[in-house]
Amino acid sequence: MTRKPPRKTILITAGPTIEPLDPVRFLSNHSTGRMGFELARQAKRKRYKVILISGPTALVPPKGIRFVRIKDARQMKKEVLRFFKRADCVIMTAAVSDFRPAAVSKQKIKKASKDTVYLKLKRNPDILAALGRKKGRRILVGFSLETNNPIENAREKLKSKNLDIIVINQAAKGLDPFGRGAKDVAIVDKNGKMSVLKGRSKRSIARLIIENIEDYRM
Ligand code: C5P
Repeated sequence: MTRKPPRKTILITAGPTIEPLDPVRFLSNHSTGRMGFELARQAKRKRYKVILISGPTALVPPKGIRFVRIKDARQMKKEVLRFFKRADCVIMTAAVSDFRPAAVSKQKIKKASKDTVYLKLKRNPDILAALGRKKGRRILVGFSLETNNPIENAREKLKSKNLDIIVINQAAKGLDPFGRGAKDVAIVDKNGKMSVLKGRSKRSIARLIIENIEDYRM
């Protein structure tokens, strides 16, 4: 009798993080979470164990996966590190806020009499870069969204964060990477292989990303 190999685990992050300023205001990034949720669905379809860690979104997570809801970048980092040990692959689609307000007011900040209010911001941890430093045999996949020189910038991120694969979106005039509809993306791996996908749905992009990961080593 042949025994089936154990199912591999894919950890996926999705959505934005929100960084509170006071009880009613926050700093965040545009992100619907759609890419990460679609990846979770496609990975589940291919029988992987899936852990999805998401910031606030309006989406319903697929059934049969482990789902963890977080709000800010530091909570996301804590949850990602908690599940990292058991993951064979991590796909970071989350639009993590690079900065957070240096102080969180307990009360709603009053409209100042001045026209200009200055906000002091602190750098948030780079979760993916931290994973890159201790990845072991895991496959690490990052996302990159740039308005200028997307390919060059993404190649640089692939190297500096010690990634295996990076998925490149471009936000520019006429190119809307957010939410529904057809998107253009490029997938680059650390051996320099690049696939360009034009006018694809997020479902089709998610399928191809999972296939790329499988071709690569899984
Ligand atoms: O450096 P940049 O933010 O463009 O890199 C994007 C990649 O890094 C994405 O995969 C994103 O999820 C991840 N990231 C992160 N922690 C941050 C910022 C980005 O894990 N603070």
